[in-house]
Amino acid sequence: MSKPKRIGILTAGGDCPGLNAAIRGVGKTAISEYGMEVIGFVSGYTGLIHKEFVELNEDKLSGILTMGGTILGTSREKPFKISQTDGNINKPELIKQNYHDLGLDCLVCIGGNGTMKTAAKIGELGLNVIGIPKTIDNDVWGTDVTFGFDSAVSIATDAIDRLHTTANSHQRAMVIEVMGHDAGWIALYSGMAGGGDIILIPEIEYNVRSVCKTIEERFQEKKAYTIVVVAEGIKVPEGYTAAGYISHCIATYTQVEARETRLGYIQRGGSPTASDRILATRYGAFAVETIAKNEFGVMIALQNNSVTTIPLNEVEGKLKLLTNDHHLVVKCRNMGVSFGDDY
Ligand code: F6P
Repeated sequence: MSKPKRIGILTAGGDCPGLNAAIRGVGKTAISEYGMEVIGFVSGYTGLIHKEFVELNEDKLSGILTMGGTILGTSREKPFKISQTDGNINKPELIKQNYHDLGLDCLVCIGGNGTMKTAAKIGELGLNVIGIPKTIDNDVWGTDVTFGFDSAVSIATDAIDRLHTTANSHQRAMVIEVMGHDAGWIALYSGMAGGGDIILIPEIEYNVRSVCKTIEERFQEKKAYTIVVVAEGIKVPEGYTAAGYISHCIATYTQVEARETRLGYIQRGGSPTASDRILATRYGAFAVETIAKNEFGVMIALQNNSVTTIPLNEVEGKLKLLTNDHHLVVKCRNMGVSFGDDY
């Protein structure tokens, strides 16, 4: 009888809701269905470099489905980036050595764009690797959606819902800044779900005159208030936050009072939505089925609601961004939502 496969899991990059569901999906499927052995590296690639890991058994994988964060911890360690402070440590070499010392047959790297890039490089070292895409930003190329995104959108939508009532009471323009790095996915989805009047995203260049004109017109039309949803990645002058700059402009150039809210890390915390739990579990289970078929060097992805694989070297270095003709952008525009680009 051949020896059972032994796999290592790690979570890297910024955390998000659903990481534990994915770890559980990988671990439980590997143990129950395929009799594999599973270990988890602590703090992302840092644990892999320093050989810090825990054995993941049924016990450790129980009761974590609904938990936010990651039981393994995470870090933004980039082992292929030469750092001045790392002295003579050859991180790629250590990764290779630890992988073999621990008798691994595959490494499952759960993370966003940076993690997938590193995973592709680990594959180039000749090691078996599988990527699982996660991030609240939803900007991983090659998959229709990443887990974490639905939870973040749901939290942001709830925050926008709450702003409506206080905006109405005071007849104010409320500017809410959501995360997304260089992408506007969270702003677009939460803006649409929360009934934003103006949505500003990095992919569509806005101008202040247009934003202020919309606010002023709504004021003239006796609309009680305006909700402005801004992505953190929109261009603003140095020294300003996205929400800070837009609310400063509204206060300066219109007769409407403005207030800003930055949602921040609340978007990344807490329990995942049902949809994220299911997606993370599907990704985790599919990763193990892929390992069992001896298919490596790929990222698990959702395409047209089917879970599939895509080569890591196709994903590496690309970002999935919104476009002006994205169907939800068009729908919003058709309903009178401004993206700050009409003058
Ligand atoms: O996880 C993605 C993200 O939340 C981005 O939207 C944000 O810009 C970034 O991470 C900030 O994370 P950190 O402060 O942990 O680097």
